[in-house]
Amino acid sequence: MKYGYFNDETKEYVITNPKTPTKWINYVGNLKFGGFVDQTGGSLICKGDPALNRIVKYLPQLPNYEFNGETTYIRVKENDSYTIFSPYFVPTLDKYDLYECRVGLGYSKYVSEIHGIRTEVTVFVPDNEPRLIRDITVTNLRKTHVELDIIPVVEYTHFDALKQFTNADWVPQTMQSRLVEENDGLKVLTQYAFMNRDTRINYFTSNYPVSSFESDRKLFLGENEFGTWAKPQSLLKDELSNYESHRGDNIAALMHHLGELAPGEQKRIITQLGQGSNISEEKAAIQKYRNEKNVDDAFNNLASFWETYLSKLQVETPDEQMNTLLNIHNPRQCYITKNWSRDLSLYQLGFGGRGIGFRDSSQDVLGVIPNYPEDARELIEKLLHTQKRDGSAMHQFFASTMEANEGDSRERPDRPDYYGDDHLWIVQSVCSYVKETGNTDFLNKVIPFYDKDTSGNTIESGTVLEHIRRSVEFTKNDTGAHGLPLLGFADWNDTINLPTGAESFINAHLYGKALQELIELMTFMGDKESADTYETWYAEMKEVVNNVGWDGEWYIRYFDYNGEPLGSHKNEHGQIYVNGQTWATIAGFATEDRAKTALDSVYRILNTKNGIKLSAPGFNGFDPDKGGITTYPPGAKENGGIFLHTNPWAMIAETIVGNGDRAFEYYSQVNPVYKNDKIDEYEIEPYVYPQNILGDEHPQFGLGRNSWLSGTSSWMYQAGTKYILGIMAAYDGLIINPCIPKEWDGFKATKYFRNATYEIEVRNKNHINKGVKSISVDGEVIQGNKAPIFNDGQVHKVIVEME
Ligand code: GLC
Repeated sequence: MKYGYFNDETKEYVITNPKTPTKWINYVGNLKFGGFVDQTGGSLICKGDPALNRIVKYLPQLPNYEFNGETTYIRVKENDSYTIFSPYFVPTLDKYDLYECRVGLGYSKYVSEIHGIRTEVTVFVPDNEPRLIRDITVTNLRKTHVELDIIPVVEYTHFDALKQFTNADWVPQTMQSRLVEENDGLKVLTQYAFMNRDTRINYFTSNYPVSSFESDRKLFLGENEFGTWAKPQSLLKDELSNYESHRGDNIAALMHHLGELAPGEQKRIITQLGQGSNISEEKAAIQKYRNEKNVDDAFNNLASFWETYLSKLQVETPDEQMNTLLNIHNPRQCYITKNWSRDLSLYQLGFGGRGIGFRDSSQDVLGVIPNYPEDARELIEKLLHTQKRDGSAMHQFFASTMEANEGDSRERPDRPDYYGDDHLWIVQSVCSYVKETGNTDFLNKVIPFYDKDTSGNTIESGTVLEHIRRSVEFTKNDTGAHGLPLLGFADWNDTINLPTGAESFINAHLYGKALQELIELMTFMGDKESADTYETWYAEMKEVVNNVGWDGEWYIRYFDYNGEPLGSHKNEHGQIYVNGQTWATIAGFATEDRAKTALDSVYRILNTKNGIKLSAPGFNGFDPDKGGITTYPPGAKENGGIFLHTNPWAMIAETIVGNGDRAFEYYSQVNPVYKNDKIDEYEIEPYVYPQNILGDEHPQFGLGRNSWLSGTSSWMYQAGTKYILGIMAAYDGLIINPCIPKEWDGFKATKYFRNATYEIEVRNKNHINKGVKSISVDGEVIQGNKAPIFNDGQVHKVIVEME
């Protein structure tokens, strides 16, 4: 069954049936102010910190039919009674003649037709504004006049996300609502709440006269809350009660009488949900967004942001689904994931401690660098602020305070308190930024290390280059019995937490990849001595990996504290791990033969029609020695699930060994656009990648989980653009080295790079996977597969002939 379709012209996914199997969401605004809206108009909005400053009450666990956060009611006066419906399906569950939720870039637009009334609502957050706009237009489609009322409603929450669950008496006693009267019947309904002797003021208002309001949920629903959101008793009366709540479950409902609409007539109402510390200071901004033209301008600004963002790379391949993804949805997801880290989604904790992860964000920025490098750089700087002097990193931090902590390792004092991989990822991020922009000055920027003295002052600072040198130095000096890097509390796989002394192969591979990056950078900067040192370190680790890591048909994944291998044919469970194979190849540690053998083992043992499993076979039952992985049933999450984040690494590894057919097979089998026809199995949004899909050891094989905020997005974008299409920024030019399916005749791409536009055409006349015969730039054949840097603001034609 289908629930919608892709409209590439408008760059939207159009949901046509609101009864999607799970909530399908879209993000509005950013961490400064914003959140998400779902396919039935509900919203979860926060300001600054999703854990400590939530505005609306949205409980993802509630059944889909339940009111969540916000809705709007429309009333048609027929004779002496009211026909009541909502333009969002929830909570009134109406039968529409037309229903659409258009999931757009930074906005969602809801279009519905019912009872001869067409309603269009565009929901978005203007750039850098602490307000959510709902721009509502109603049209009378009837042949007769109609009398309409519009009643938008918000349910507030306590600012502290966890408090809404506690039901402690003091919580609602701190929440109060007040009406702020204004001229011409325009009204602002505010909600105050107090927390730790601090207060913030949420407000809800519109640009149309309000005849009455309600701020108490009990009164709005009526009958002591036996009135329902589907049929609030208060809406059966002409007016709301105008009650200013002094405690309790606060809502804001505003009654607008639109009066009579003639056939074909339209009316427009704009609501604002915002937050400030003092309402009188907000008045000017509120007034601004009551003006239709200002709202139109703000919406157009949003559109032009996205146009610029997406214009940095546009592709035209023979695969329509790949184009849809690479031109619109995948880069959008990269930006959203970079913005929100793992802070707020239907599935992420959002409160209670995650914050921004060092490992996760270091990878997320890689997906944003080609499109918005300076924005990515800002996050890279924040991350570097939480790196320690010894080169390791704090596991996560809170953007609002820059306070960092050691993540889940805090729960296990018997285990190491650092993660063996975190600090290695940032080397790739820094180098990727410099390659994209050429901004080598950034390497000289001085940034403090996280360590503080007893008065809270920085102890030491270092340049960005010094920071990334320390990353590899930490791992160089943090090795175990075999000479491999220690695991720490965990490596990329958070759920394997072995006692101290365990060694990790992915840490070795990430160290190798970081060294490769540093060798390239040092060579470019002319520092041969450093490049040589890193070469030596690289060769040493490569030797260790190959001496102790080969299991016969693949590389093993860990040595535990006793020196026993995990990820070996000797194990009963978890015999083979995909990351052990892909990263050995990406780091260049695997010899050519071993890389091919290991990747063939992945294909044979771990690949399924719905994606590659993280490992196999799954553990069956809890094993305290292995840790979190054994808490999942076989086939779920890290325990043999299709942990999608790892799949693009397999694609990248396949392109490195030149197997473009398999890389593309892997790419297509998880392309969410194809899932549009399989939603009953897949369930989640087909316009974003999820973090995981249940594997074939699980009865719900193929079910997608944890959509939106996942490292999958950044790596899929990189796998698709840099490795399959092969368009990759380098320090001294733009590499074009595709590894595509043999059957492709070629493809086209337009890439913005260092102040010039490269119009690239790849021709694959001999139908091969990989290998560039010649490149001509503006009609002249050049050596190698790297187009030069132009920096001239012009368009250049690049024609690539494959061998
Ligand atoms: C989650 C975490 C990420 C980790 C992965 C595998 O996605 O956010 O940091 O690498 O799980 O355990």
